[in-house]
Amino acid sequence: MTEKILILDFGSQYTQLIARAVREASVYCEITPFNKPIVFGPELKGVILSGSPFSVNEENAPVVNIAAIASRVPVLGVCYGAQLTAKLFGGKVEKSDKREYGRAKLEKVKDNILLQNVSPHSQVWMSHSDTVKELPDGFDILGTTESIPVAAFVRTTEGFPLYGLQFHPEVYHSTEGKIILKNFLVDICGCSQDWTPAHFISDTVAALKEKIGDKRVIMAMSGGVDSTVAATLIHKAIGTNLFGIFVDNGVLRKNEFEDVLKMYEQLGLNVKGVDAKEHFYTKLAGKTDPEEKRKIIGGGFIEIFDKEAKRIENIDFLGQGTIYPDVIESASVHGPSVTIKSHHNVGGLPATMKLSLVEPLRALFKDEVRKVGVELGLPHDMLFRHPFPGPGLGIRILGDITEEKVRLLQDADAIYTNGLKKANLYASVWQAGTILLPVKSVGVMGDERTYEFTIALRAVTSVDGMTADWAHLPYEFLADISNEIINNVKGINRVVYDISSKPPATIEWE
Ligand code: XMP
Repeated sequence: MTEKILILDFGSQYTQLIARAVREASVYCEITPFNKPIVFGPELKGVILSGSPFSVNEENAPVVNIAAIASRVPVLGVCYGAQLTAKLFGGKVEKSDKREYGRAKLEKVKDNILLQNVSPHSQVWMSHSDTVKELPDGFDILGTTESIPVAAFVRTTEGFPLYGLQFHPEVYHSTEGKIILKNFLVDICGCSQDWTPAHFISDTVAALKEKIGDKRVIMAMSGGVDSTVAATLIHKAIGTNLFGIFVDNGVLRKNEFEDVLKMYEQLGLNVKGVDAKEHFYTKLAGKTDPEEKRKIIGGGFIEIFDKEAKRIENIDFLGQGTIYPDVIESASVHGPSVTIKSHHNVGGLPATMKLSLVEPLRALFKDEVRKVGVELGLPHDMLFRHPFPGPGLGIRILGDITEEKVRLLQDADAIYTNGLKKANLYASVWQAGTILLPVKSVGVMGDERTYEFTIALRAVTSVDGMTADWAHLPYEFLADISNEIINNVKGINRVVYDISSKPPATIEWE
């Protein structure tokens, strides 16, 4: 039995950060919408109430019966969760006179397990305009800050421990927030910190064996982290009954098809490489609209996969590298979020295949997938490579795609990526790539006038790709890359560097 913490989501932007911080303490947790009924099984060790964009005093503010939850397991309310606790038990929550956003110093006013090992004047991060003005009867203040008298509190009457924190212990800027969370998880909820990559692997492989038995699994492979880690786990469970298919769609990076197939071979995975470049080039010819190109690449992949799948008999399962952020059921307090590009994660396979899904990574965050990959002994370069879009170089060649343009971009991309690695800059950049612009400009090489294409270099720093800043790469490095590309890639006579952040720009140019 894996112990579990439940995080009730009231719609805060930080809810996933709470989950990641809990997982980092080697405790398994799940996020669930605040209004979904809770199952109080023996594995449930405690509940955390998240923040929210709402004020508890708004008419339609989300509410749960905290007393009922705290009669079964320990509870920690964070920000809105703390304010809701104070309000529901009879305290007073109001707009604070001094708005405290950002950094504050936490001072302990009473000894308690929740704040044990936290230093005096510890920096904490505030992000709400409401504050607890009066605590309910039977509650005590544990910590305070200069402008907020009730920064941390505890229920003192009988029952399971019930705590509230006005600040966000899960964010990076709460420097000892992880200590506070660990105090709650380990010393208050009694979690034994059994959520480790090694445990995950042995539990998952056993569960996969049980689920799949001697049946066959088919899986689309991309050479990326998620599909490789998922396939390795499935392979450990069922060996060569896993049939992987890796398609060359003509817009992969330089030598990627060969390199990835070699890696699969070394890992002992049963993966068939399908060279479908021509199929894609024919369909893409003359197409310039980004969305149309994406659909052609996504749709072409399904066609090829379907054709290959039909060659393998008696398949019952479809393996997929789905990860937790793809499936978290969060509270949608403001309705569904607005979609900027509709195309992310294209590649849904046809329902007509009638296969049951096998998704061994459904419970993991990306950093956990990497840790499992490390534990499985998978190659470091693959585990820590930058994100690469499904439509590949197809959306980095602006305008129409030809085989010749793909070759130019592959060569430039390889120079840039290898350069970043050699200069030890690769790991400090979240994602980097080259873009081929459909613009020719005049240059001069030796005595000759040239009229050739332009390459844009892109490199960004980011946490999750939702927002990003352009990476401030050293001028000397950019100068070297520019020289190397122009001198070695015939057809390119100009290199520019993209200095746009997201928003308002996006990371990819199409
Ligand atoms: P944008 O361009 O929206 O990209 O700032 C954010 C992240 O998503 C990746 N991306 C894609 N990934 N299919 C994918 O699998 C796509 O169509 C796609 N478009 C963008 C992009 O590389 C970045 O990591």
